[in-house]
Amino acid sequence: MAADGATVAMAAASLCDDLEPATERTRIRDVLAEGAARAGDRVVIGGWVRTGREQGKGSFAFLELSDGSCASTLQVIVDAAVHPLARLTATGTSVLVEGEVKEPPEGTKQNVELKVSRVLEVGEVDAAIYPLPKGKVKLTLEKLRDVVHLRSRTNTIGAIARIRHQLACATHRFFDDNGFLYVHTPIITTSDCEGAGEMFQVTTLFSQAEKTEKELKENPAPSSSEIEAAKILVKEKGDAVAHLKAAKASKEDISAAVDELHRAKDNVLKLEERSKLRPGIPCRDDGSIAFENDFFKRQAFLTVSGQLQVETYACALSSVYTFGPTFRAENSHTSRHLAEFWMVEPEIAFANLQDDMNCAEHYVQYLCKWLLEHCREDMEFMVKNYDKSAIERLELVSSTPFVRISYTKAVELLKNVTNKKFDAKVEWGIDLASEHERYLTEDIFKKPVIVYNYPKGIKAFYMRLNDDDKTVAAMDVLVPKVGELIGGSQREERLDVLKQRLLDADLPLEPYEWYLDLRRFGSVKHAGFGLGFERMILFATGMENIRDVIPFPSLARVLAVAKHHRRRARDGRRRGRRAFARRSKVQEVHGLRLGCQGKAADVGASRSTGRGSLAAAADGGAATSQCAFELDEASHGKGAVPLWKDCSSPARGRPPQPDAWKTAIK
Ligand code: 4AD
Ligand code: MG
Repeated sequence: MAADGATVAMAAASLCDDLEPATERTRIRDVLAEGAARAGDRVVIGGWVRTGREQGKGSFAFLELSDGSCASTLQVIVDAAVHPLARLTATGTSVLVEGEVKEPPEGTKQNVELKVSRVLEVGEVDAAIYPLPKGKVKLTLEKLRDVVHLRSRTNTIGAIARIRHQLACATHRFFDDNGFLYVHTPIITTSDCEGAGEMFQVTTLFSQAEKTEKELKENPAPSSSEIEAAKILVKEKGDAVAHLKAAKASKEDISAAVDELHRAKDNVLKLEERSKLRPGIPCRDDGSIAFENDFFKRQAFLTVSGQLQVETYACALSSVYTFGPTFRAENSHTSRHLAEFWMVEPEIAFANLQDDMNCAEHYVQYLCKWLLEHCREDMEFMVKNYDKSAIERLELVSSTPFVRISYTKAVELLKNVTNKKFDAKVEWGIDLASEHERYLTEDIFKKPVIVYNYPKGIKAFYMRLNDDDKTVAAMDVLVPKVGELIGGSQREERLDVLKQRLLDADLPLEPYEWYLDLRRFGSVKHAGFGLGFERMILFATGMENIRDVIPFPSLARVLAVAKHHRRRARDGRRRGRRAFARRSKVQEVHGLRLGCQGKAADVGASRSTGRGSLAAAADGGAATSQCAFELDEASHGKGAVPLWKDCSSPARGRPPQPDAWKTAIK
């Protein structure tokens, strides 16, 4: 007989009655949204204390709680009889509380507050060493980058996280609504999409070399005389077998001698194999690196763009897009450039440059409208604190057609500018610099501008050559505050022209053969673009530095951990604690001072590359933490030494616990 739903649910419940009951937390956003309508409800709320203050001579406390679900905080009231108040009020303390939603007294700011009846959980904070300031005091955004693992608790980074999330939702919604399929393109690739050679290489050659070096130290490669001796042994064993066979010895004796012969032969093979081991990176006879020994048996890189791969899907499924991390080893350390950033890349078959521009314009307008509808509170926060015109800009962009102008005409306009002196001279053929792009969009047109048909010499090989043979069907969308937000083009679909463009760009044909196949078999006009996701956030919010709109700006990760330790060591000394700095051995590595208390479980460094990692059991415990570091030439040979000593942990001023490390390092 089939069991009914209720019976199944009861049976399922009884199977996990050894687990604690589910928390069933209510989000602060939901409580605030429903306001007085929820008065009288019992709810469980979790969050981190933004500010806490004892009142009524210590008889109760007000806590401003944030759980990140919205910009606003919820006021929570706890009586001293419910929980020791001093343990709850420090900024950064986490609490899970149960209580009743109440309408606050007339004239207060909040529309509802929570009267706590039970404190279910607390994660305490020592206010003396909590890195974020209390109340209205603010750290600069630059200083916040040093505490990248805690900065998400601030109003600004919280607002940006919500805006970023909404932009991602809007992206998927826009493309889904318009019939695009989401394709996950690879992060490790063998082809350089932009042909600019600005790629990070992915290789195991360095770690292999390090392993070999270590192994050879412990067990040196056999000498030629050792190999010779092993070969003589093989001959002796062979002779012994022949002798036994000639003497018609027993089957068992012959088979035992054959076994010995096999073992001797195996030993020679092993010795010969080991004799080939060389320290360092394997090289070919001509001195070039032997990538055939690498993990992928060839050179591989972190992708600079998913475009080439997503084109394969566009040339089968018509409208597709990819959205993922991309990596560039460019030497542009500006407030608009990251080494690791996210890009949204649609690709459309049976489409030309105009279709591409239309799609880009509609997409950007859609994102702006979405933020106005879904992120009002956070956008108002940005207006109040960072950019007065942020909302106006979104409104304008979402409702105004973008200007479209050819590169040639844009250069003419810029050449005629008399009220401003550009650092870089404007003439036909130059790659427009950020100052030119911003002048066009901010001063001349005061709205987004799409510049198209760029000189072929400054654009990538895959862009379609125009009939003038001088320009390609490229387009860049330029927006106020940022400059280039989008780069795209119609793709070269003619096999012979594309091949020639690759050769002209000095690129080898072999890694692009599969890409050329798309033009050999059923070639189709197609076009696409890439939108820099962090630049879109800069544009929307008015933030100035791209490092503040990505959760983990790559370089800051290493610096943050190093600086964190420096500060800890300093604080430890200041408070007169028993020689934190002496116990936390600090080492200078690549200009960064890294150090930590705890017990070294493993320290590894690739001397040849200057990269490495540290693994440590914090406070001598079993859990491990990792920290990436870099070595420079000067550190060669002395980098791979244990940094930590055994020590017991003082109650305060100790290094980040493993979990905190993981967060900091991502
Ligand atoms: O103009 P880009 O280099 O175009 C491409 O990569 C094409 N393959 C995209 C395509 O057609 N599918 O980069 C696209 C956008 C730029 O307009 C810019 O917004 C952003 O990516 N971008 C960066 N953002 C942050 N840091 C960097 N280093 C960036 N480089 C490019
Ligand atoms: Mg570009």
